[in-house]
Amino acid sequence: MTLIAVPIFVESLETAHAAAARAAEHGADLVEYRIDTFTQPAEVQSLVARSPLPCLITARAAWEGGHCDLDETDRVSLLEHAGLGADGHTPAYLDLELKAYQTSANLRQKIGLVVDHPSQTRSDVTAGLILSTHDFETFPPDLDRRILAMADAPACRIIKAAWRARSLRDNIDAFELINRKLKPTIALCMGEAGLPSRVLAKKFGAHLTFASLNTESTTAPGQPTLDELKNLYRWDALDSQTKVYGVIGHPVAHSASPAFHNAGFTATGFNGVYLPMPIAPEYEHFKATVIRWLDYAPLHFSGASVTLPHKQNLLKFIKEQGGDIEPLANTIGAANTLARKSDGSLYAGNTDYAAILDATCAAMEPPKGHAQLQGKIIAVLGAGGAARAAVAGFAAQGAHVTVYNRTLEKAQALAAEFDASAKPLDQLDPYAADLVINCTSVGMHPHINATPTTFPQTQSTHRPIVFDTVYNPVETQLLRQAQAAGCNTLNGLEMFVRQGAAQYALWTGHQPPLDVFRAVLEARKQ
Ligand code: ATR
Repeated sequence: MTLIAVPIFVESLETAHAAAARAAEHGADLVEYRIDTFTQPAEVQSLVARSPLPCLITARAAWEGGHCDLDETDRVSLLEHAGLGADGHTPAYLDLELKAYQTSANLRQKIGLVVDHPSQTRSDVTAGLILSTHDFETFPPDLDRRILAMADAPACRIIKAAWRARSLRDNIDAFELINRKLKPTIALCMGEAGLPSRVLAKKFGAHLTFASLNTESTTAPGQPTLDELKNLYRWDALDSQTKVYGVIGHPVAHSASPAFHNAGFTATGFNGVYLPMPIAPEYEHFKATVIRWLDYAPLHFSGASVTLPHKQNLLKFIKEQGGDIEPLANTIGAANTLARKSDGSLYAGNTDYAAILDATCAAMEPPKGHAQLQGKIIAVLGAGGAARAAVAGFAAQGAHVTVYNRTLEKAQALAAEFDASAKPLDQLDPYAADLVINCTSVGMHPHINATPTTFPQTQSTHRPIVFDTVYNPVETQLLRQAQAAGCNTLNGLEMFVRQGAAQYALWTGHQPPLDVFRAVLEARKQ
């Protein structure tokens, strides 16, 4: 079982124990008391004796990224006191840096007296020794040497290595390290790109992972909170067979997709987890990372949502790899979905256009399949990437598409590719269309009072469906005016729900839980 340890910087006994009690309440297995600046031996013993959870004691040296500036003799004396505990209570673990352990035979001997190991003669000593090594800058070139030294140290029960991830690829090194099983191992990557190593620690059978009580109390960059680990990243459901998905982009830190897809996995009982996957913009980064993740079989990396700036990179990659590309994604020139099929082959598709068609068809009276779009009059506003997906999708269904754009030449160029018509934006009569879809950025934050078209008084009883792909804000000026004019409307969240739902169905084979997805996005709006 992989433990969840909550780190607590100890300032007083009371606050530390209160924090530990909260950690216990929220499902942590262990607390790490960071006693870097809490250095009274008697107090440290009370800390251990009255801890509401089993504990790990760490007095991280300043030279290893911590705050403890005691000299080594005093620091080790503090750990000795901690290790012996009080009133029959000892810590579960003591942490000591490999570097300190290697430096002094005297220190090794002292620590050896207060931790449990094969040649320990005292029966009242139970703490296990975690030897640890950290690099806050990069991957340590001599990591292997360090790991072997920890494995060879007889008093060392657990190996801990933490380093700053240079990219997502470093997570695979962490998984490989755990899989070597030299001893129970903690292998964690720091920084945004290191999150997979922290969440998937359980999948790979690491000894423990760290999660903070809240965002202010993290002890390492990229550490998730306990709430995120348990509720967002599905900790309790993870096992060695869990399939891994993610959102590839740059940046992805604020993406709604992890909350969205993980809630879907939970709702349908699918054994998957979905992570943010930041990859630097250049193609070689995309390619190297995706290959490394795909080729490491125990990861079960099975698919990804792909967003800016990688949509063209995905198409290029799948072409190079001889994978299967959805024909319309190829025509549009952008893909947003990567899937690994059950036979191991790769697939790239575009669910943006599918989302537009699905949402439109569901809003039509009566709602039917895409075939009902044949002959419908569609006004696409804009001539950028989003408009291109809409035009391609509607044209493929035999709809009559007109592209309306501020810059007419761009509308003409787009229309010519798909046998559509082109007009200047200011010539739009919304009542002449069955669907008006805004694919411009007009109305987007911060220009929330702007609108690409208006709805004048009319004698006509016909009303178009009005669809705004802008989702920030969700209720745009365009949609408000359309509703006032009696139109049925679709917003950018529905677009997001539908494109994610199509990905979800492709990956899992399950019926997508649309209402769960809508609820996740509604909750994030608040
Ligand atoms: P995306 O790839 O997200 O669709 P894009 O390629 O930047 O975005 O396209 C933005 C679209 O919004 C374009 O059609 C742009 O019109 P132009 O081709 O004339 O630039 C349209 N757009 C942006 N700001 C606009 C504005 N203030 N008024 C009208 N159209 C606007």
